[in-house]
Amino acid sequence: MSQITVRQKNFDFPEQISRYWYGNSVFKSHFFNSITLLFPDGEQFMLRTIKRQIKQIDNPNLKEEALAFVGQEAQHAVQHEKFWQNLRQQGYTFDRYLRWLHFILFNVCETRLNIKFKLAMIAGVEHFTNVIAELTLKEELFAEAEPIMKELFEWHSAEEIEHKTVAYDVLQNVTKNYLIRLIGIIMAYTFVLSFVNLGLIMMLYQDKKLLDIKVWQEMLQFFFSKEKFLLKVFWQSLDYLNINFHPLDRDNLFLIKRVVG
Ligand SMILES: [Fe+2]
Ligand SMILES: [Fe+2]
Repeated sequence: MSQITVRQKNFDFPEQISRYWYGNSVFKSHFFNSITLLFPDGEQFMLRTIKRQIKQIDNPNLKEEALAFVGQEAQHAVQHEKFWQNLRQQGYTFDRYLRWLHFILFNVCETRLNIKFKLAMIAGVEHFTNVIAELTLKEELFAEAEPIMKELFEWHSAEEIEHKTVAYDVLQNVTKNYLIRLIGIIMAYTFVLSFVNLGLIMMLYQDKKLLDIKVWQEMLQFFFSKEKFLLKVFWQSLDYLNINFHPLDRDNLFLIKRVVG
């Protein structure tokens, strides 16, 4: 039996949510806005790939977990996309960004990549999200954020930790090739970092904050000196390079209890 629970959520993001909803920080609000723009299509790509692979999985338990993975990622995509309405009301436009993202994910990755590389890329993205989810919950990263946004990101983080083994196990079910796994995580990190930065610069530009020195000071603090977010993400991602790595090696399942019980 799968231990992964698909929870039906129905977030409602009132118009009053502040533009700088993350502790009044321009940088951190737009950084996580950018992630919110990336999630829906990113998760659709992952769930579509895993869903198509289910018939081929020869382990009944993994099959069930893969179905639950699809259910959870579909929820994440829908709930994050709801916040786009707030961003549009605040005057931001991102249709061109979304078209470009859609093209890369569905016209390039989905149609051109071999299934082994698609799964390796997805397992890499899931490792990335697992590391970030662990930081989010362990360090209460969203303590200063608007409560509804904290709830959104913490719920998402808890479910990412809950299903952290699935994409990796589906990949291992197809191939255990270390080089393919390595290429997958390089593709994953390149893709995620490129689009998060693109979205961030687009949001800051539209907000006329791109040349604001305070924003870049916040960036340096958040990434390197205070929270050390980027340093920790990279440092903690390195266990993936271990030839015998498995997502269960990271002891973080205990973190999800506070959020989803
Ligand atoms: Fe997700
Ligand atoms: Fe996930």
